[in-house]
Amino acid sequence: MRIDILTLFPQVFESPLSCSILKRAQDNGLIDIALTDIRDFSTDTYRKVDDKPYGGGPGMVMMPGPVFDCFEHVCKLATEKGRVILLTPQGQKFDQAKARELSGLKRLIFIAGKYEGFDERIRTGLGAEQISIGDYVLSGGELAAMVIIDAVVRLLTGALGDEASAKDDSFSEGLLEYPQYTRPEVFRGMKVPDILLSGDHAKIAEWRRAQALERTKKWRPDLLKENEERKS
Ligand code: 6GU
Repeated sequence: MRIDILTLFPQVFESPLSCSILKRAQDNGLIDIALTDIRDFSTDTYRKVDDKPYGGGPGMVMMPGPVFDCFEHVCKLATEKGRVILLTPQGQKFDQAKARELSGLKRLIFIAGKYEGFDERIRTGLGAEQISIGDYVLSGGELAAMVIIDAVVRLLTGALGDEASAKDDSFSEGLLEYPQYTRPEVFRGMKVPDILLSGDHAKIAEWRRAQALERTKKWRPDLLKENEERKS
């Protein structure tokens, strides 16, 4: 998979991309990530990329020119056309199903904006899909892009050390994950459930399923409702 990120703050991505699963995925050639600074496409001496909104009002708006020029440059960096994703709190809410959908694509092009918003012609002119990561406002799309990239890349075959671990994750079956324990058997008086020490794999699987269901009912009943709605 090739991932392009158009941003005013390429430095924001450097540390998360150079650790853990995302680093390994790049080292193994599973993903190829390129950062492009939108400001390099400003035509202004001061490298300006935003301006006051027509019609008045507070804040600044990302100008279409630098974003379009940057996008056209990035498109030529690889042959695949790719899905264009605009990060904005006005987008469709990101979830595990969207992560799975994106993980099946060959190329993703993320456009992260700072400031109060994008000139509307960026959205309409680039044929971009808008994605939000939740109902709160971030100061820019960078962290949202990073969240999406992390969730997508870990689903790629070979990204995780143990391929089974993505399947059991919370949300993969629409349920939260069952409780996990490791050594020691007793920690500060708290004991690991006997069933997990029993060696009875069928019973353990049954217990885990029941636990996952119980926790989902208790902590995220909204997920169960969503599942029901999806099935019917
Ligand atoms: Cl994608 N961008 C911004 N600026 N804020 C957000 C968001 C995105 N998703 C949730 N809040």
